[in-house]
Amino acid sequence: MTPRRPPEWPQPRAWQALRWILRPEAWMLASRERFGDVFVLHLPFGPQVFLADPEAIKDVFTGDPAVFHAGEGNAPLEPAVGAHSILLLDDEPHVRQRRLLLPPFRGSRLGRWTATMAEIARADVDRWPAGEPFALEARMRAITLEVILRVVFGIEQDARLAELRALLRRLMPRGGAQVVAMLPAFRRDLGPGSPWRTFLATRARIDAILFDEIARRRADPGLAGREDVLSMLAATDMTDAEMRDELMTLLLAGHETTAVSLAWTFALLFAHPDAHARAIAGARAGETAFLDAVVAEALRLRPPIPAVVRRLTAPATVAGYDLPAGTKVSPAIWLVNRREDLYPQPHAFRPERFLENAPQTYTWLPFGGGIRRCVGASFATTEMRVVLGEVLARADLRAADPPPRRSTRRAIVLGPPRGTRAILTR
Ligand code: HEM
Repeated sequence: MTPRRPPEWPQPRAWQALRWILRPEAWMLASRERFGDVFVLHLPFGPQVFLADPEAIKDVFTGDPAVFHAGEGNAPLEPAVGAHSILLLDDEPHVRQRRLLLPPFRGSRLGRWTATMAEIARADVDRWPAGEPFALEARMRAITLEVILRVVFGIEQDARLAELRALLRRLMPRGGAQVVAMLPAFRRDLGPGSPWRTFLATRARIDAILFDEIARRRADPGLAGREDVLSMLAATDMTDAEMRDELMTLLLAGHETTAVSLAWTFALLFAHPDAHARAIAGARAGETAFLDAVVAEALRLRPPIPAVVRRLTAPATVAGYDLPAGTKVSPAIWLVNRREDLYPQPHAFRPERFLENAPQTYTWLPFGGGIRRCVGASFATTEMRVVLGEVLARADLRAADPPPRRSTRRAIVLGPPRGTRAILTR
């Protein structure tokens, strides 16, 4: 008979939560070695049933979306992304936003944007310092932000781009301040200069710019000919408030994830000279196959989001366990991506494996799955390949630090230690 509850560690909950914050990858791996494919971990937001079995994960991803809710868990993001954000919604309102958001991100549209992505990457590389260590992640963040502002928001005027860049940096400070801003207890106006008042003022200025862009787009007689995402959304029946919230969502969901993934990709290449040389040769010859394989393999080994969450709105049987309503189940992206039965030598960086076989829906999970699968998955992998290609073709880089062994946490996503410091030699 199956026990009623999946196994869990005897250690105190606070200790487990701390392990999740400090060493999520090692903690998941140790748990799978100890308990197998289903186990409970106590995270800072409560217990979650982790799943490392692709079949059980497929059941969750393809299960009734009315039972497997994803939106409520993202509530802490509301101050930045707004109540209409696809990230926060479930059921019919989620389906509506997704139906409106998906078309601009279809694979067939992506080709129109690669030239802009490449131009943004080239302009940034040309400003990199030679002969001294610098963090590639910071440069990747600047590039991916610029891509969102120009390709997704469709903003072209330099002054407006500069103002938005500065405002967004203030709205989303790095490190601890980012986490603090997400906690309801800190959403209090403590007078001029206090973090929450600054947040609200910054957000109001960003909103004014975004609503102005939306109004201009709606009034633009050439709207049908424009190729940015905002213009495509302006041609649907999305309201202005929905558009504002989805723009902030795309920015938040799309820019740091892609930047840390790129930074990890460089770290992995630096640690593997043969693959690095082959990627450089491919980039300089304008070939994409090996670069695509490098991107897929980097996202397999170092997914920036190591697990996703669904909260049960009704009792459900998952992986043979009868779980009550309210249980949170977590398809463990990081563990599935490293299963030995799916990927021989699972911890080794071997891009060749994706030259032979393309990534598969339920066994390669950096973008989650089912009705919540990342809207920007093709956009992100295309952007990563284009940026990687431009950098490798133009810059001779080497690692400034020894090869990294594990990820470190940003606020939500995981990234390489020290942001992959590199030295530009030519
Ligand atoms: C390497 C880069 C990226 C990674 C690893 C990533 C990963 C993810 C993951 C794991 C989810 C949750 C899926 C689930 O719950 O099953 C997600 C959702 C989402 N992502 Fe991404 N993402 C990336 C880039 C992007 C980009 C570039 C965009 C858009 C510009 C984007 C937009 C979204 C949106 C809108 C959702 C919410 C989908 C929904 O709730 O229906 N992401 N992403």
